[in-house]
Amino acid sequence: MPEILENIRNRKTFAIISHPDAGKTTLTEKILLYSGAIQIAGAVKSNKIRKTATSDFLEIEKQRGISVATSVLSFEYSDKKINLLDTPGHKDFAEDTYRTLTAVDSVILVIDCVKGVEEQTEKLMKVCRMRNTPVIVFINKLDREGRDPIELLDEIEAKLDIHVRPLSYPLGIGYQFRGVYNIFKHSFAFYQTNKQRIEEDVKLFNGLSDPELDKSFGSDAEKLRHDVNLVEGIYGEFDIQNYLSGQVAPVFFGSALNNFGVKELLETFIEIAPNPLPREATNGFIEPSSEKFSGFIFKIHANLDPKHRDRIAFLRVCSGKFERNKYYHHVRLKRDIKFPNPASFMAQSKSLVDDAYPGDVIGLYDSGIFKIGDTLTEGDTFMYKGIPAFSPEVFRIVRNTDPFKSKQLEKGIQYLTDEGLAQLFTQNLGNKKVIGVVGELQFDVLKYRLLHEYGASVDFLGMPSYKAFWVLFETESDIEDLKRLRYNSLYEDKNGHLVFIAESEYTYHMAVEKNPKARFLSAIEHNDFTVNL
Ligand code: G4P
Repeated sequence: MPEILENIRNRKTFAIISHPDAGKTTLTEKILLYSGAIQIAGAVKSNKIRKTATSDFLEIEKQRGISVATSVLSFEYSDKKINLLDTPGHKDFAEDTYRTLTAVDSVILVIDCVKGVEEQTEKLMKVCRMRNTPVIVFINKLDREGRDPIELLDEIEAKLDIHVRPLSYPLGIGYQFRGVYNIFKHSFAFYQTNKQRIEEDVKLFNGLSDPELDKSFGSDAEKLRHDVNLVEGIYGEFDIQNYLSGQVAPVFFGSALNNFGVKELLETFIEIAPNPLPREATNGFIEPSSEKFSGFIFKIHANLDPKHRDRIAFLRVCSGKFERNKYYHHVRLKRDIKFPNPASFMAQSKSLVDDAYPGDVIGLYDSGIFKIGDTLTEGDTFMYKGIPAFSPEVFRIVRNTDPFKSKQLEKGIQYLTDEGLAQLFTQNLGNKKVIGVVGELQFDVLKYRLLHEYGASVDFLGMPSYKAFWVLFETESDIEDLKRLRYNSLYEDKNGHLVFIAESEYTYHMAVEKNPKARFLSAIEHNDFTVNL
């Protein structure tokens, strides 16, 4: 088998997503424990920025340090190379998560059985649904008094716009939790609390009618038969194609903290999760097995040492083979560049890589040449599509409080917005700058980093705002009314596209009504301005 094809078949690249506190960090740790990538529980630090730390800059910096080290966790399991891309838990960094989701081939979604589908779960799943990303659901914390499993499954279907198919089913919940029945293997994993244990206590049955079931569970055996028959009746056959096309999500139940149900989840994941898939670019779909290397930047992380302004740009390899020290084409800059020190990541440590294959993520040292969405190729000029930019939710006007540091401020804002930390909108040939972010916390991070990395000090002034809309139009006459009445609300984004920052929902609706030939988009793709996600 050709080398590239063999490597593609060996790789699976995925992310674990959840609403904060559902158990993503705990599950990640247990998966690493099974793979042997770490030896003891507690070795993976939570990368979440806790709610209490909202104005604690040092804490933010510390947390950022942890999250860069765990941005990509590569490990081997059953002879497969698994790349687990970590995503920030804090909702103010949600946009980073959305972009990371463009670099994976599938996801595991963790849901807390007490809380069910939460706000962030819905937002993250929306991004997965846009790309039909295959999803496996893990319903966690079965050791707690959670909600009825069928009710949870119904809620997932209703709120997340995806069909579900339980592959296991719990017997009891919370205090009464006895374990999980594997519907396909007809085996039962008995629940035991033990955080370090790897082997599970599993018993195989000869189908649901097996009298051994009564011996093991007494009067609960009937309940188990009833529940599993019900599930079989409601959800029908599991078709792997429907999972791969993102239409049906297989569901597992367990308790990550107690290391329960994780092995089953991981083994099914290894069996069914997709290998690196073809990706859409401006000239059509690019096959991973193509001879020529290509990839895109989905995340940029600043160096933690303020004295060094270099950053790490994370590149997902999409096709061919990446080789260290070989010249590749930076499509946006139209320049050929080579990378002497590409890095790969293994649990907490970073090491030099000589080559990488589709599905792999490598860290490239970046002196400021990369933006989110940039494509590298072996000479081709296409760009990868599908990397979203969403309208920010909070807007502030930038006020320079140290006029002698204007240049530094300009540069700092340029770099930090390239990283995707915030979006920049300008007016009056760049003299009025508005920063838009997903959550308030990013203003604290920006202010801190502008001062510590660039020596620039700023204030952020509030402004009335609802949302930003990218405006598409054919001729100037399409936006005549907008220019006349809303001139002060019109800005340019970093790529020179026209953006309307509506003061209120009302002004947005008025603008849409009065400018019927223009299109107002609240989300775009970095390399394809015409797509409303
Ligand atoms: P996150 O990354 O999704 O934000 O969640 P994380 O894994 O940090 O888990 C959030 C909390 O839920 C943690 O408790 C964790 O121990 C707990 N947890 C995770 N899985 C289970 C489970 O299966 N059962 C129960 N009962 N709890 C679970 P914490 O007190 O917030 O943090 P910690 O002090 O334990 O780290």
